[in-house]
Amino acid sequence: MSSAHHLVPGTFVVASLSYLVMLAAYFMPRRRYFHVPAMIAIMLFDLSLPFYLYLHRNWWHRLIEQQEIFSSLVWMHLGILITMYALDAFQVSTALRMVKGDQEARAAHRSQGKVLLIVRLFAILTGALLAP
Ligand code: HEM
Repeated sequence: MSSAHHLVPGTFVVASLSYLVMLAAYFMPRRRYFHVPAMIAIMLFDLSLPFYLYLHRNWWHRLIEQQEIFSSLVWMHLGILITMYALDAFQVSTALRMVKGDQEARAAHRSQGKVLLIVRLFAILTGALLAP
């Protein structure tokens, strides 16, 4: 148990650092060779984190035995994550349309990117509140 507990700050620190990278990539969209790989890396990190936490946390104890499944924070966090993954998919699809010269896709990528920046901040913050 104590070793699992020890891993919790690590996840939050790495997530926070990835948010700083995301901020930099957000404000440097024209540096394509930074913006694109940074955003792709962050999306892959976000996709792999649930698997990592599933394998390294005692989720049965937390959710079932401690009945945290009834906590509204858990469901809020889940809802934020689903929104975030949907926005990720949207950013990829608008990026693909943008490189084909679609100007409407550029405007959509820009405005939804702003939303994603906020949503991902709340994903990290609600995740931090759930970490023991
Ligand atoms: C796989 C992920 C992504 C890819 C492949 C991608 C690709 C691109 C490309 C090719 C551009 C145009 C850069 C240029 O003008 O040369 C761009 C612009 C931009 N991207 Fe992304 N992007 C991704 C994710 C994101 C995310 C997650 C955000 C925000 C959270 C974001 C925010 C922006 C913004 C604000 C612009 C500037 C739009 C404008 O010119 O008005 N992108 N992106």
